[in-house]
Amino acid sequence: MPAGGDSLRIAVDAKDYPGRPPKAVLRAIRLEVPRHQVVALVGPSGCGKTTLLNLVAGLDDRFTGTIHRPPGRLAVVFQNPRLLPWRTVAQNLALALPPDTPDLDGRIDAMLEAVGLAGQRDVFPNHLSVGMQRRVAVARAFLVEPALLLLDEPFVSLDAATAERLRDLLRDLLARRPATVLLVTHDLREAIALADRLVFLGGSPAGIIRDVAVDLPRRDAAAVEAFHRSMA
Ligand SMILES: Nc1ncnc2c1ncn2[C@@H]1O[C@H](COP(=O)(O)OP(=O)(O)OP(=O)(O)O)[C@@H](O)[C@H]1O
Ligand SMILES: [Mg+2]
Repeated sequence: MPAGGDSLRIAVDAKDYPGRPPKAVLRAIRLEVPRHQVVALVGPSGCGKTTLLNLVAGLDDRFTGTIHRPPGRLAVVFQNPRLLPWRTVAQNLALALPPDTPDLDGRIDAMLEAVGLAGQRDVFPNHLSVGMQRRVAVARAFLVEPALLLLDEPFVSLDAATAERLRDLLRDLLARRPATVLLVTHDLREAIALADRLVFLGGSPAGIIRDVAVDLPRRDAAAVEAFHRSMA
């Protein structure tokens, strides 16, 4: 695919946090993500993954460089769920969409069902476990049907079965409605199971140290294991 206006183009020359001394977090990051590609961002804790996602989301413009986002809606699942505590679960989801969205209630109920929270629509977020709050945040992002989806460790602090269910849900949703995706994870198997491409951040300040295509026609457990072994 040519370098079109629909790709996500990240060019971060430098991102520092102010302080004495300033903290140099990111350097010379060039990443072009073609439309509808799913990229997993992998790297050690504290290397700057969330920082990069915040730049891509447009939440932080204090950096040197440029970011070109694909046209269309953006949805972000933050590392901390960030729900409004004074709104119920259903109200938190409703706020993600225009109020005149056709069948808003039906879509909210279907999405809550899909993430395993059918019984929690009228509950306030503070009354949910962190894992349940994370599922609400995932539901909210999926409901938006974004052109660009940014996910920061969306499936941590969930039991293995729930995490697998949400990975399946992400795959199903992307099959029905493709999006360009940046998925931050430190779980290499999860990255291989979900992404078209693995981008490794490393160093201090961090840059891209490895960029690997995941070319797996079938994502069964055996294929993921074999690919995982081949990375060593
Ligand atoms: N607002 C901030 N002000 C100053 N330093 C910050 C700020 N946010 C993050 N940092 C520092 O920048 C570095 C990168 O942080 P960041 O949160 O991006 O890492 P991360 O890769 O997302 O880590 P994790 O995997 O633990 O979530 C860390 O050293 C962190 O302490
Ligand atoms: Mg982080």
